[in-house]
Amino acid sequence: MHIEIRINDELKIFEVAAGELLIWVLRRAGYFSIKHGCETGDCGACAVLVEGRPVPSCMMLAAQADGRRITTAESLGTPDALHPVQQAFVDVGAIQCGYCTPAMILVAKALLDQNPQPTELDARQALSGVLCRCTGYVKPIQAILQIGNTRPGA
Ligand code: FES
Ligand code: FES
Repeated sequence: MHIEIRINDELKIFEVAAGELLIWVLRRAGYFSIKHGCETGDCGACAVLVEGRPVPSCMMLAAQADGRRITTAESLGTPDALHPVQQAFVDVGAIQCGYCTPAMILVAKALLDQNPQPTELDARQALSGVLCRCTGYVKPIQAILQIGNTRPGA
């Protein structure tokens, strides 16, 4: 079937099978920031933003994305001009192996877009959908609080 998705503000056209998962269509198209983990909706490594909200792309059929707006980490910053969320992750040292990092940064961006001054609880809840196998949760929370200028524990 023929679908159209606006990915990172570019209209893309795909031919997909009816049961094909969004994660595989996007990775086939070169969006390699989307990581494959569990394929059961548990790890969050495959998160993308659909209409600005984090969604595990392994839990969505490509056909369900037809006509929707999707954001991936490819749209955020460049090596010379990082997105503020990326810069904050670098500044506080929030990256270990990096496998979960694109998803963490996307969910952090989604939170900050909706709530520029999130509390620590808001940050914890936002990141709770992305598992970090390096168990590096403290620093990503710090990064979010740094951008929001929020005190830890607030
Ligand atoms: S690969 Fe999609 S949630 Fe784990
Ligand atoms: S930094 Fe390694 S999985 Fe999170």
